[in-house]
Amino acid sequence: MKLLELRRLSKVYPNGTRALDSVTLSVDRGEFIAVIGLSGSGKSTLLRCINRLIEPTDGTILFDGSDVTHITGEQLRRYRSRIGMIFQQFNLVGRYSVLSNVLMGALGSVGTFDSIVGRYPPALRQMALRNLEIVGIADKAHVRADSLSGGQQQRVAIARALMQEPQLLLADEPVASLDPATSHSVMRYLGYINRELGMTVVCNLHFLSLVREYSTRAVALKAGVVVFDGSPAEIDQEWFRHIYGEDAVEVEIR
Ligand SMILES: Nc1ncnc2c1ncn2[C@@H]1O[C@H](COP(=O)(O)OP(=O)(O)O)[C@@H](O)[C@H]1O
Ligand SMILES: [Mg+2]
Repeated sequence: MKLLELRRLSKVYPNGTRALDSVTLSVDRGEFIAVIGLSGSGKSTLLRCINRLIEPTDGTILFDGSDVTHITGEQLRRYRSRIGMIFQQFNLVGRYSVLSNVLMGALGSVGTFDSIVGRYPPALRQMALRNLEIVGIADKAHVRADSLSGGQQQRVAIARALMQEPQLLLADEPVASLDPATSHSVMRYLGYINRELGMTVVCNLHFLSLVREYSTRAVALKAGVVVFDGSPAEIDQEWFRHIYGEDAVEVEIR
């Protein structure tokens, strides 16, 4: 059942900041985990340690039963290709078409030359169009990426991540630069991909209302320590103040 297991994972940055402090967390297949916590609590560091964009200082990462903590080279490259990632800032190439951007998600399986001249195998194009359909935006395939709204661009980024057919989707505050209505639209597609495609999602989120609506489990970090791990419904006022501090006020995002 377990897809990912972190055992006593720590990260101390060269300047001495302890961003993760002995984090133990196990993720089952099919879960939608929201990682919450104040800015600076270690959410991004956690996600980046999972796909080894950041090297943990201590601890173990098990993925699909294998220890991936210290793998390098081709093994590391293959491991990363099993994990999709979505960022706050979408990271699309604005002057390229939506379809080209989605196809870039398949770069691992096409030669660089082919990708530059846009000669992708028809099967990959079909797959890219299917993934655009999944995020409800297939009609935009041939427009420039930078002509889309923020929410639409994030959906393109999701379609791009799906090209890897990842086993795990990591999303680092995917709606942090979007307005509330658009945020829900993006979250709904992530929820759909989780439920209907059975994809496991770990998503850093700022707003508790989104956590309650879309995630199956919430993990709260405070100064790099897991202080809550359970059902989002259990996060009452007392938990909220424990996680976010005495002075925090919950903001609804509708
Ligand atoms: N490259 C870095 N070098 C030093 N400290 C860092 C670096 N990246 C993040 N930090 C620090 O690590 C802590 C956790 O940061 P981060 O993982 O970005 O938290 P979050 O995503 O929850 O805002 C913060 O104190 C932050 O300042
Ligand atoms: Mg962050």
